[in-house]
Amino acid sequence: MFMLNKYIIFLCIIIIVSFTSLIYTKELPLPEGEGKALILSKCNLCHGLDVVINQRLSKLEWEDIVNRMIRWGAPISSREQEIIVEYLYKNFGQK
Ligand code: HEC
Repeated sequence: MFMLNKYIIFLCIIIIVSFTSLIYTKELPLPEGEGKALILSKCNLCHGLDVVINQRLSKLEWEDIVNRMIRWGAPISSREQEIIVEYLYKNFGQK
């Protein structure tokens, strides 16, 4: 009986762990393109990428946001900034 309880607890832990890893490794729907790698490496340093991909903004608004992130300390060069804004507007722009 004691062994059975231990086995059930062990099984529960395995199930919980595999479910949480399933949630966290879920691929974010980030379209291919120049800028994808930059977004993946620079834009999730302070928050998740869900903040980014749930927006639909104009080019001006994206410029504004990326500028703000840089002011807050995002390590992005001006060349990278151009690529990022283009990518964001193309894929997450206003329809
Ligand atoms: C230095 C840290 C940092 C980095 C790097 C960073 N952000 Fe942010 N970002 C923040 C903070 C702080 C907020 C505001 C708090 C929050 O919403 O979590 C924010 C919020 C946002 C928002 C929410 C909209 C809004 O008006 O607040 C968007 C969109 C966003 N970031 C996009 C980006 C993009 C795109 C990148 C990559 C180019 C990026 N962030 C990189 C710190 C950062």
